[in-house]
Amino acid sequence: MNAVAPVLALQGVSKRFGPIEVLTGVDLDLAGGRVHALAGENGAGKSTVVKIIAGIIRADGGTLRLDGAPVVFQGAADARRHGVAVVHQHPAVFPDLTVAENIFIGRQPRRGGRIDWTAMYATAHELLLRLRMEIDVRLPVKALGIAERQAIEIVKALSLDARVLIMDEPTSTISSREVDRLFEIVATLKRQGVAILFISHFIDEILGLGDDVTILRSGRRVISCPAASLTPEQTVRHMIGADPGALFPKAAAAIGAPVLRVRNLSGAGFVEDVSFDLGAGEILGLFGLVGAGRSEIAQMLFGIVTPDRGEMHIAGTRAEPRSPQEAMRLGLSLLPEDRHLQGLVLPFPIRANATLTVLRRLSGALGLVNRGEENALAREYVARMRVVASGIEQVTATLSGGNQQKVLLAKWLIPAPRVLILDQPTRGIDVGAKAEIHRIVSQLAAQGMAIILISDDAPEVIGMADRILVLRAGRLVATFERDAVDQQAMMLAAAHTTWDQATTPALQATP
Ligand SMILES: Nc1ncnc2c1ncn2[C@@H]1O[C@H](COP(=O)(O)OP(=O)(O)OP(=O)(O)O)[C@@H](O)[C@H]1O
Ligand SMILES: [Mg+2]
Repeated sequence: MNAVAPVLALQGVSKRFGPIEVLTGVDLDLAGGRVHALAGENGAGKSTVVKIIAGIIRADGGTLRLDGAPVVFQGAADARRHGVAVVHQHPAVFPDLTVAENIFIGRQPRRGGRIDWTAMYATAHELLLRLRMEIDVRLPVKALGIAERQAIEIVKALSLDARVLIMDEPTSTISSREVDRLFEIVATLKRQGVAILFISHFIDEILGLGDDVTILRSGRRVISCPAASLTPEQTVRHMIGADPGALFPKAAAAIGAPVLRVRNLSGAGFVEDVSFDLGAGEILGLFGLVGAGRSEIAQMLFGIVTPDRGEMHIAGTRAEPRSPQEAMRLGLSLLPEDRHLQGLVLPFPIRANATLTVLRRLSGALGLVNRGEENALAREYVARMRVVASGIEQVTATLSGGNQQKVLLAKWLIPAPRVLILDQPTRGIDVGAKAEIHRIVSQLAAQGMAIILISDDAPEVIGMADRILVLRAGRLVATFERDAVDQQAMMLAAAHTTWDQATTPALQATP
């Protein structure tokens, strides 16, 4: 494809899990100084390719070549020794260790035989600053949010001085500000001759950052070509093998009486005086950068975190849920941001995860679950969201990342709550399924459900929401109505960071 000899190449690589072949004869060339974007629907086999290159799993057939010579990596450490650094889709962090320890796990700087803590903290801090992430490197990782964890994974890979850098959806959890920074770093590494593999579901990233693009569909390579020769439409068509439904198909729906009324909500450390109303059938977008307080508001509404101050009314009645169970009884439902920690029971089959929240309703007098009804429900949602799986009994842990998220979404849609809070519902979801999820959310609103949509994806919020609240550093800083949204003004309102806030004049406050 290009004249440069590849640093790393896959030739005819195949992989099966039990009876299912998930990769079939895949070829892929990574050249020094080039970014190769790998795209495909959820379950297409992208992370499996990554795990093979990273030495985590073995291919069943085909060859991996490094500088032209065949290699077989004996595990992840061996791949690292050969200069391959990997940012995984679901970083395996050690929650009780500090940020710095997680970055340097297994290779802590030493002096006189002992770990040099000062050097380790200083280097970790400096590496995070390259991403412009202000994180206290002495904090245990469990105190951090998902974006910060992902940043640790990126920094860890950057600190390896790798010849080959693999990034599996690095941008699906970090905010636009860190994404810009990451892309600057990628450009620098490119100039230094690093060969980069980059996976993303964002078409503009695939075509904008990639020099070359390879698209997988059901484990087969459908095309490999220079990014410049593909249009966005062609890219999507190669990915899903058809034209996608329209994204953001929010239908104009009549907004009914307020279902949720929030007044002066404060707490979770920094959320201050947040007030809003949400009507039946309305989709309210909460926009802001990572750390703006959107998830914290959701957690307070849902009874996970007890607010310091403020009131919430549901359908006119004062509500003070002190647990998620209580919140659900009051008619609230929350799709959490951190699906891996909060949402799924990974060893359970898809069916059990999807129907977990309605088991009580499905149970008969003796507490026995009506299996037929449970199966039907699970099957309906698995089909609607196009979950790639062998059936509803497949163990959730063995699904691809995006497909796990679809199962989780089903879990929160099935109980049909009065107020549904969705925290980053389409993060990591491929374009085809994303359109389907937007359609489902729209339909729910049209049926009168009140919906709060938290998302970093500006076009998604603009396309779906009837009204958008912009948050910054725990406060409401702007409100936009659907027919008067200005994307730039919205991004600007969100963008001033906590630490430079003191030096910037306050933007126009919400009336
Ligand atoms: N341990 C396993 N056992 C059985 N099937 C597996 C296992 N690991 C992965 N698979 C299957 O392999 C297929 C490819 O998964 P992979 O994680 O590579 O997809 P992906 O392209 O990375 O998707 P996503 O965009 O959702 O991250 C999926 O259908 C998945 O269910
Ligand atoms: Mg994946």
